[in-house]
Amino acid sequence: MTWKNTSISYGMPARGFHWLCALIIFGLIPLGFYMVSLDFSPLKLNLYWWHKSFGTLIFFLVLLRLLWRFINQQPLPLSSHKKWERILARLVHILLYIGMIGMPLSGLLMSAAADFPRPFFGLFDMPDIISGKNKALFDLMRETHEITAYCLFSAIGLHGIGALKHHFMDRDITLSKMLPHIFSQAGAVVILFIFIVFIGITSFLIFKEFSEIENKPQEIHQSEGQPVLQNPDQTLLPSSPSHWIILPDQSRITFKAQVQGEDFEGAFYEFDGDIVFDPENLVTAHADIRVKIASVSTGSKERDQYIVMPAWLDAESFPESRFVTSKIEKTGENHYNAFSELTLHGVSLPVEFPFSLIISKDENGDKQAQMQGDFTINRLDFGVGTGEWNDPKLVANSLFVTVSITATEK
Ligand code: HEM
Ligand code: HEM
Repeated sequence: MTWKNTSISYGMPARGFHWLCALIIFGLIPLGFYMVSLDFSPLKLNLYWWHKSFGTLIFFLVLLRLLWRFINQQPLPLSSHKKWERILARLVHILLYIGMIGMPLSGLLMSAAADFPRPFFGLFDMPDIISGKNKALFDLMRETHEITAYCLFSAIGLHGIGALKHHFMDRDITLSKMLPHIFSQAGAVVILFIFIVFIGITSFLIFKEFSEIENKPQEIHQSEGQPVLQNPDQTLLPSSPSHWIILPDQSRITFKAQVQGEDFEGAFYEFDGDIVFDPENLVTAHADIRVKIASVSTGSKERDQYIVMPAWLDAESFPESRFVTSKIEKTGENHYNAFSELTLHGVSLPVEFPFSLIISKDENGDKQAQMQGDFTINRLDFGVGTGEWNDPKLVANSLFVTVSITATEK
């Protein structure tokens, strides 16, 4: 087995890069279509996490692969290949590279533009190259990611069929020169099998996606918990007429907890957020509230210092808690339920938040909204108070949170 490519065959690194990238992409494409079809849930968030990590891995692998390709010669096409076959094969190889670079790049830019995480297997987060949120870029990259996915899938289909035709019908060495040596014979059959399974599962998921879009054209499309309307006329941009500004001196976020059976109360004094709410058009309703952990106060200086330490809320590593709604439903007169995601201590979990909301006019004739609601969370689910504090008999697991917000219309 040679390291470098020769004029008739690929070396070991080129073969390794090829099959490693191919196997990961065989998983990533169906995973992508499957995860977007799921309702908002921890499973969905987990799948996004794995998708982004493996997608970013492809980004690094392709950079290395291209580098290796440029410092190596490429095997010559077989003389038995017709001219049109060579041109087609070359075009498809170019398309495959465009797909392998375009997919991770658009994925990373899409997540960065929405300020969503870009994890790499928990080792680090990809750098934040876009400051704040950029809705136009997010939409563009999301569209690019989806269209490039279809192009890459088609290119892989053509490429695989071509390579398998050369092996099983023309019986030339096109495929053998790319297969790892130890797999020469059985390898072709295994690849044929994996290729058929990949094409079958992905085609099924694409068909399902298209038939669901046709059946529900107005349904909210979830993007990492953010509602994004498929109808482009209804946007959630801050310029929406029902955008609200929180009045901090008339708003409160408080919580109740229990230590050794004793109740204590606390509050967060610094928070802000974006709220879009029109009772007549709940499909556009959305809230994104950010709370500064270090602003906590429980009436005891010693406890306040402790609560922001690493064993508890770890304000240094996780300075913000975030509450983002994905869907708001009416449950009665002035009563609603927000299906949301709460991120606390670096852990994101779904929560249901029932609340009441009344809109009235103040003395200047401006609209004012008063909202009040509460929910309970289990601190251990968020990894808060671990180690020696794990025991719920010492510090109760459940934490009762009350939110009361007054806001004026923008
Ligand atoms: C995600 C799937 C795949 C991708 C992205 C991919 C990508 C590529 C690329 C870019 C090349 C050009 C050589 C290079 O620069 O390394 C190549 C060559 C090759 N691929 Fe794939 N490939 C995939 C799947 C497959 C499958 C399923 C087969 C076989 C059934 C296959 C068989 C081959 C062969 C035989 C060559 C050498 C062609 C030649 O030099 O004449 N590939 N592949
Ligand atoms: C070669 C690498 C990648 C492939 C083949 C791939 C493939 C896919 C596919 C097929 C979809 C479903 C398309 C749709 O119906 O909207 C998807 C969605 C998605 N991908 Fe990737 N992806 C890759 C890399 C990445 C990376 C690196 C990220 C981010 C760090 C990412 C983030 C996303 C997100 C957030 C969605 C959901 C978009 C939505 O909600 O509409 N992907 N991906």
